[in-house]
This record gives sequence, structure tokens and C-alpha cells, in this order.
Amino acid sequence: MFISTEKNALLEEFLPALLAGFPHAAILVARDSKVAMANPTAAALFGPALQGRHYGLTLRQPEVLDSVADCLYTGTGATLRLTMRPSDQEASFAITISPVPNGAICVFEDVSPQEQTDQMRRDFVANVSHELRTPLTALQGFIETLQGPAREDAAARARFLEIMATEAERMNRLVTDLLHLSRVEAQERLRPDTEIDLAATIALAVDGLRPLAQRAEVTLQSKGLDAPRNLFADADQIMQVVGNLVENAIKYGSIKGGRVEVGLTETVTLRGPAYCFWVQDAGSGIAEEHIPRLTERFYRVDSHRSRAQGGTGLGLAIVKHIVSRHRGKLSIESGKGQGSRFSVFLPLG
Ligand SMILES: Nc1ncnc2c1ncn2[C@@H]1O[C@H](COP(=O)(O)OP(=O)(O)O)[C@@H](O)[C@H]1O
Ligand SMILES: [Mg+2]
Repeated sequence: MFISTEKNALLEEFLPALLAGFPHAAILVARDSKVAMANPTAAALFGPALQGRHYGLTLRQPEVLDSVADCLYTGTGATLRLTMRPSDQEASFAITISPVPNGAICVFEDVSPQEQTDQMRRDFVANVSHELRTPLTALQGFIETLQGPAREDAAARARFLEIMATEAERMNRLVTDLLHLSRVEAQERLRPDTEIDLAATIALAVDGLRPLAQRAEVTLQSKGLDAPRNLFADADQIMQVVGNLVENAIKYGSIKGGRVEVGLTETVTLRGPAYCFWVQDAGSGIAEEHIPRLTERFYRVDSHRSRAQGGTGLGLAIVKHIVSRHRGKLSIESGKGQGSRFSVFLPLG
């Protein structure tokens, strides 16, 4: 096989088809340093007019230029990992440069999505460790105090044990939420196959939340939960969604004497008929910049307040996964001083 910038049957038919089928950007550089061929992915990445031009006009990173030159003259291949900005967006690439007869082939694999996933995983582990360490450090501190200075102090002992119980409970809630999260994530592609009465399920969840509302002196009102509305859904998960949303509305969206409304109605979305249930509070609302991030794990508007209320920062992340398992959509409307409305749309089909 001989590669040159001259056209021949191989270059015209077989090789372009082969390179076009390649999942990554690929550029074939001939011995004369000109680009003999570039596949459509490479054209999309570096611009259309590559062919016939010196490779240095397209590939500008010194490391890549050196490696291509090396490969052309000594036949040694190389692998590099680089951040490049071929278009207006920065991306990470794993670049492989390998010798071919009378030339070199450069393959650019965009590894940005993979790097993002890796980064998310690292952030998640760091967050979990941090969230667990805080109560753990408190527990260790109190244990030491009880073993030492406060050994004979009955009043201090009672007080410390109470705080220790609260911290242990916090760790327990965190672990429980983490398990819930991993379970709903694992089930995300598993469509619910039981038909439930959505109205009755929501009503049951609301009844279970009345004691919490009473303690907070918040009135819990419901709308549209009397007539049955049937849907293929996971009843436990629907109750969990209602629980998380109402709990938030009471904890963050209400003051004493406030009101939280839970409602259900039938509606039509772009994707067809759906049920919509919502939880509306009359609190101080959420500033716009926070709204798109609320369903991220461990994202809180006010972490101090969330922690003081026993929050884990995972409630809405769990809600999002459950809603997505039901092919539904979560929508959040809120503004500073206007209260918040969390709506869940569940398609009927
Ligand atoms: N109804 C609401 N009103 C105001 N802020 C809210 C409301 N619901 C959620 N938030 C904000 O979103 C954050 C994330 O909620 P969530 O995922 O349930 O975690 P957690 O309740 O454990 O903090 C909360 O910490 C709070 O700052
Ligand atoms: Mg919550």
C-alpha cells in the first residue's frame, strides 16, 4: 500500500469509507506533510478545508506537531492527552499518532464527557465524605469529653448525649438517602408496571405529613385528590416524591401560620396528556440563579439552614430520578418573595 496526495482508487473509495466509519476524528498525513485525508468528524472539528494542506496549518499544538513529525520521519507512534479549543468550546482529547506506510494517522478521541463523569464521581465521593465527617467529628468530640472532663457531670452528660443522638440520626438519614438514591438510579430504566390510583397515593402521603405540618404550625391543604386517577407508577416512589416536596415546602417555604397546598389535575403537555401534581408554598421563594441547580446532589441554597433542619441535600436529587423513571418532568417556579411551586408532570401514555 502506498499513500501519497495523488489520487488513486484506494484513496478514493475504500479509505474514505473506512475513515468515515471511524467514531473519532482521524487525519491521515502523507510523507510530504500534507493532509491526505480527513474524515467528516475531523472536518467538523478542525474545519472543512483540510485536505492537501500542510498539517501544521490545522494542528497547532507543539506537542502534536512534534509527535507527527517524529512519526513521519522515524516511524514512532505516540499517545497524548491534551485540552484543545478547535471550535469555540474547550475539550479534552486523547490523541493517538501511529505510523502507516509513507505517512502517519492521527486520531482524536474527545474524552470530555468521560472526564466530566470522572469529575462528578470525585466530587460525589468528596461530598459524601465531608457530610459524614462533620457529624462523626462531633460524636468523637463528645465521646472524649464524656470520657474525660464531663465524666461526673450528670447535667452535661444528658445534654451531650442528646446532641450525640441528633448527630447519629443525621448520619443515619444521610446513609438512608444515599441508599434511596442508588436504588432509584439503578431502577431508572425499569418502567413501573403496576397501575395505581395516583390521587389516593398522594392523599395517603399528605396524611402522613400532617403531624410534621402541625408541629411547624403550617396548614396543609389538598386539591383534586378526591376522584381516582389511575396511572402506571410506583406508589412508594410517588409517596417519596410528595414527602420530599412537602417537607421542603414546610421547612424552607413556610413560617408559622403559613399554608402549603398539594394539588392534582389532568393537563396536556407537548408530549400529550399527563397528570400534574404540585406543591405550592407561600414562603420567601428561591432566587432564580439557584433554581437550575436545586436537583444536583448536595446543592443547597442555604446549607446552614438545611443542616439545621436535618436536610441531607439529596431530597430533590431523589425526586428528579424518580420523576425521570416515570418519564415525567419536574418543573420549579419560584421567585424571591413569591413562594415556590414544584410541579411534577407524569405522562398518561
Ligand atoms: N420550597 C422551597 N422553598 C425554598 N427553598 C427550597 C424549597 N425546596 C427546596 N429548597 C432549597 O433546595 C435545597 C435542596 O433541597 P433538597 O434536595 O430537598 O435537600 P435538603 O432538604 O436536604 O436540604 C434546600 O436546601 C433548599 O435550600
Ligand atoms: Mg429536602
